Order: sequence, then structure tokens, then C-alpha cells
Amino acid sequence: MNNRRGTARRRNVSRRHAAQQRRKWVIVVAAVVIIALIGWFVLVDSSSDAAIRTDLEAEFKGFAPPDEVAEGSGVVEYDIVAQETTAELLDGLSTSVWALNGTVPGQAIRVKLGETVRVNFRNELPAETALHWHGVRVPNAMDGVPGVTQDPIATGGTFTYEFAPPDAGTYWYHSHMNSTEQVERGIHAPLIVEDAISAQYSQDVAWVIDDWPLLENGRLDPNFNDPTDSTHNGRWGNVITINGETDAQLKARPGERIRLRLINAAVARPWALRFPDFPADLIAIDGPYLRSPRSADATILNPGARADIDFVVPDTPGTYEIKDDFSTQLITLGTIVVEGDPVETPSFPVPSNPDVPDWDDATSVGVDLEFKLSLSGNTWQINGEAFPDVEPEEVFPDVFTRVRFTNNSIRLHPMHLHGQFFKVIERNGEPVDEGHWRDSVLLFKDDVIDVGLIATDVGIWAMHCHILEHAAAGMLTLVTVPARS
Ligand code: C2O
Ligand code: CU
Repeated sequence: MNNRRGTARRRNVSRRHAAQQRRKWVIVVAAVVIIALIGWFVLVDSSSDAAIRTDLEAEFKGFAPPDEVAEGSGVVEYDIVAQETTAELLDGLSTSVWALNGTVPGQAIRVKLGETVRVNFRNELPAETALHWHGVRVPNAMDGVPGVTQDPIATGGTFTYEFAPPDAGTYWYHSHMNSTEQVERGIHAPLIVEDAISAQYSQDVAWVIDDWPLLENGRLDPNFNDPTDSTHNGRWGNVITINGETDAQLKARPGERIRLRLINAAVARPWALRFPDFPADLIAIDGPYLRSPRSADATILNPGARADIDFVVPDTPGTYEIKDDFSTQLITLGTIVVEGDPVETPSFPVPSNPDVPDWDDATSVGVDLEFKLSLSGNTWQINGEAFPDVEPEEVFPDVFTRVRFTNNSIRLHPMHLHGQFFKVIERNGEPVDEGHWRDSVLLFKDDVIDVGLIATDVGIWAMHCHILEHAAAGMLTLVTVPARS
């Protein structure tokens, strides 16, 4: 009994042992197979990721159509003084403003593609300042970010800015020093880079849209950087102006073809453009042309952004309005006053840039860099950091880079990158092809927006929210594009 039981137990033990051995082998083989499979997938995936990036880079032809790039052709020089003065924004009331050559908006700069801009700047403001050329790909040392690319210009000080804009289009320049106050007070102006060979529009006009928080006596509300404004959507004004006027009118004759360059210089407020009275085409955003034009209706013009509109003036004399309905009510921004004898409409193809890549495959590559936007107390943070305590991020030149903006807040954030154009490739998980480049993109509550870019301009570039109260409350970081090795 004992013995048989003993034998049976031994037999069981050895059977169990064999089973264990088999199981061990199965596990080992399975593990090897799984590891090999994972390795293979990673390899295939990273090699296809690299192959797709190479294709995306090959689709990139730059920002302006190559046939529009002209040879260098001279220097256009401007002497510009920043000074305190007064303006009549509201009828009969005088507002103390800060101006560039005496006006708000300030001295318009207009050059042709290929020309060099030289600005002999003098600061006569009661504060330090520096000028930034928004959207223009300038040499890094000309970018005008105090403490990053240059020293602040003291009262009475001078600085010469010089650069040859490489891309035609509508840009603007503004103070990048204490900008919630300085841009609000009026330190901003248009910078127009005309095509080397301009289309023959009847009129080519820039409209700077701004809003001012004015008190009853016409004084600008001096309460800059109010924590309530900065933890919400920034400071919005109660008086809207175009080129410094509350009732801006563009006079035109029936049949004229007009290029209207809209620039949003408001420190915080976006506009949603409405053209209820006549059809208008959108031909450019943030400078470069669209791949092909489309209706301008419902275009959102976030702070800092530009939109170029191409339209034919209606035949019937009268007033035609351009409106905004970003926030529920419909308001009038400006008016086209049609009068006089009709003219023959100039006919030429609508300017376009067929080289804007569609980057169909852009969303199948991994995210290289993510910027998470959040509010902590009264401080706006990017990846948990608030300016000036930020660690710069690195983006390499000439390679496709996928950048993700994640809005972990309920506020608006028009995120703006200096020195580079980018293209939106995905919104909240949906691939998109907007058909144009941008230098800023508006994020609504909880939005996740991915952009693709190929950095071409080396240097250290600011990246920030263009709701200037948010930037002042920390929402600014730096992106370094290292020199090509
Ligand atoms: Cu228009 Cu960094 O700004
Ligand atoms: Cu913001």
C-alpha cells in the first residue's frame, strides 16, 4: 500500500515535472515570439514613420510660390519714433495714446518682395520698448523680443532693425515689451510686403482692427493686467476702431476690385468676419496665399492674425458692411461706401499658392512635441512652466515636426510661434487640410490641435498665447532651432 502509493506519487511528481518543463518551454518560446514581433513592429513602424516624414519633407516647397521670389533690390528706409500723443478715437474726446510717428495705428511700412526694410527706431516713450515684426521670418537678432533676442530700448535710446522679408503678404509690427500695455496704447502698425509683380487691384488697402477699453471721459482704462481679465479671455474693449476710426469707410466705385488686408491688433479679442452684403474671397491668411481662394465668410481672425480679402465692389451705389459675430451679436466693423461712375473690373487670376502641401499623411507620424496649456491660480502655464522660468524646447531645421497644442482650460488661446509658419494637420482627432499656412492658431475650450512644421529659420524663438494678458501671466515659452550641422 505504502509502496504503491509511494510509486504513484513518484509517477505523479515526474508527470507534473514534465508538464512544468513543457509549460516553461511554451512560455520561453511565446516570450521570444512576442519580443520578436514587438521588435519587428517597432522597426517597421519607425521605418515607415521615417519614410512618411521624408515624403512630407519632399512635399514642402516653402511658403511663397517660387516664381514670385524676386532678386534683392534695394533698401527701403523708415525713421520711426515712438511717442506719447493724443488721438480722437471717440468724437469730441481726446485719448492719450502711444504712437509710432504720431498715429494709431502707427507708421505703415510697405515694401516689395526682395527689398530690404531698414527702420531707424527711436524710443521717446516713458518706458523701455522693443519692436517685433509679427509673422515675418527675420534674422533672429531682429525679432524684437526683449531679454531673448535683444536688450530693451531705453527711453531716448535707438535701435536699427534691418531685414529682407522672404515672403510676400500682410504682416504687422508691435511692441513686444510689456505688450498688454504698449500694444493696447497703440504701439502697432501694418507691414505690407507686396508681391514682386503685384496684381492690378483697383485699391489695395490695409485695415487694422482694434478695440479700446475707454472710460467715459475718453481715457484709456489704465487697469492693465487685471487678474480677472487675465484668468478669463483677456481684456476686451468697448470701442472698436479700424485704422483708429470708429466709423471706418472705404470709398469705392462700382466694379472696382479691392484687396482688403485685415489685421487684428486687439490684445485679446477675436473676430468672426461676416460679409452679408456682397461675396468676398479669402486669398491669404497670416501672409502667404491660400492654395486656392474660398469664401471669406466666417473666417476667424484671432488676435495677431491677418486675413486678405479679394472682392468686386457691387454695382448699386450704397453702403455695404463688413461685420463680426464672434460673440453672439452681429456688429459692424467697417463700411464700403459705393458711389460714383462704374469702372471696368480688373481681370486677373486670383492669386494663389499651389505649393501649399496637403500633407495627407501628416497625422500618421508620431507627435514630436506637445504644449499643454493650463491655468494654475492666476498663472498661465505651458507644460507646467510660466515665463520666464521656462526650459526652451528644441526643433531641428529642415525636418518635419509634429507639434501638439492641448488646451487643458476653458479659455481661448491663439498660440503664436515666432520665426516659422506651420500648418494645422489635425483638430480634436480629425485630420484637416486648411489649405494655408499660419503663424498662430486659435484653441477653444479643451481643443487638441496638431500642426506640422518644417523649421527653416534658426535661432531662439518665442512661442506664446496672443491674448497678451495670458502671455503676461506666464503663457510664453521658447523654441530653439539649432544651426544646421
Ligand atoms: Cu505678435 Cu510674440 O507676437
Ligand atoms: Cu491664452
